[in-house]
Amino acid sequence: MSKNYTQYTVEDIAEYFQHFAEVEPGENSPLYYAISKGIVNEPELLKLAQQTRYGQPMANMILGSTHYLLLQNPDQELAKYYPSITGKIEKTDDHLVPLFKDFCLKNKDEIEQLLTTKLVQTNAINRCAYLMPMFNLIAQENDNKPLALIDIGTSASLNLYVDDYQYEYLIGDTKKSFGPVDSHIKVRSEIRQDLFPTFGEMARIERRIGIDQNPLDLTQDENALWLKSLIWADHLDRFQRMSAAVQMVQDKPKAELLKGSSIDDFKGVVKGINEDMTLVIFHTHVLYQFSEEARQDFWNWLDELGQERDFYYIGAEGFQSWRAKFDTKDVSVSKTTYKNGEKQSKLIALTNGHANWIEWQGF
Ligand SMILES: C[S@@+](CC[C@H](N)C(=O)[O-])C[C@H]1O[C@@H](n2cnc3c(N)ncnc32)[C@H](O)[C@@H]1O
Repeated sequence: MSKNYTQYTVEDIAEYFQHFAEVEPGENSPLYYAISKGIVNEPELLKLAQQTRYGQPMANMILGSTHYLLLQNPDQELAKYYPSITGKIEKTDDHLVPLFKDFCLKNKDEIEQLLTTKLVQTNAINRCAYLMPMFNLIAQENDNKPLALIDIGTSASLNLYVDDYQYEYLIGDTKKSFGPVDSHIKVRSEIRQDLFPTFGEMARIERRIGIDQNPLDLTQDENALWLKSLIWADHLDRFQRMSAAVQMVQDKPKAELLKGSSIDDFKGVVKGINEDMTLVIFHTHVLYQFSEEARQDFWNWLDELGQERDFYYIGAEGFQSWRAKFDTKDVSVSKTTYKNGEKQSKLIALTNGHANWIEWQGF
């Protein structure tokens, strides 16, 4: 049996939920704030949360698992508090936590099964707000040769559909739109400091390869539902955008989704990419899950590859040692160009976790 959180006392778990409620949903998700605060005083729910696979965040897992079951059972009374189901924001009240508790205890076996088998694996489409301009600039630099994109830690591969989204940038008082006008999926970001790259048309993308230790193939309904369940239920905009993206992939899957997690796996993927395409290897919010040693091995591999062929490497991360590297408190987006055996790295942008704002640093 895999390890869980039962080595901690129920009081420890209550303290964790108390901290989670204040720091994570806080004012930004009244529904999940109220539920997480409620769980603190419910020993049966705390014990249930302890069944979460060790290393996975308990609160996100129990909230996600309940959401997963409710989306399949929308006629439950609890569902009326879930905007993802009703389509409108509902005020929380004193009935919410007892209903949540009742639902969890009635569906204890199913929830336990989800807590022990699923992983918290978000896929944040809004991160395309900085990826798309960078891909376009790279294509331009290379006579608009088609790109081959490799997304390491791709989750459900949604950031490989970068040319299918419509972009809306707020630059000072003006809005700048880009991308297919008929797209239902909108990526929005505020541009700080008025600095914005001039890029021409959308890059042509010939190969879209996503690799993950646990790829979520959205053509399987169970994965699609789990990915949607991980969106906080009162973040209606994000939920609707995710639902539209899932539908788009289910209608017309375009990315190649591979299971893999080692340097050898990554090497195997690169081998299949011809030099007549511009290769871009990228990752967003992934390396924080690597050990320090694994990160160094990854970067060493990129340097070795740079001796063999030209390619670009983009990384967007916000973990502590990455931030220290770029001397910032924010998520940093960097670009490294490997050309003719030479390596040139540059800090391109600062942003936040969901790219709600971007501060370009240069291109
Ligand atoms: C926080 S998610 C980010 C997903 C996506 N890149 C995004 O920005 O939306 C991190 C992803 O990295 C994957 N991951 C972690 N370590 C990995 C490894 N060694 N190899 C491949 N994927 C890995 C996880 O499975 C997860 O899907």
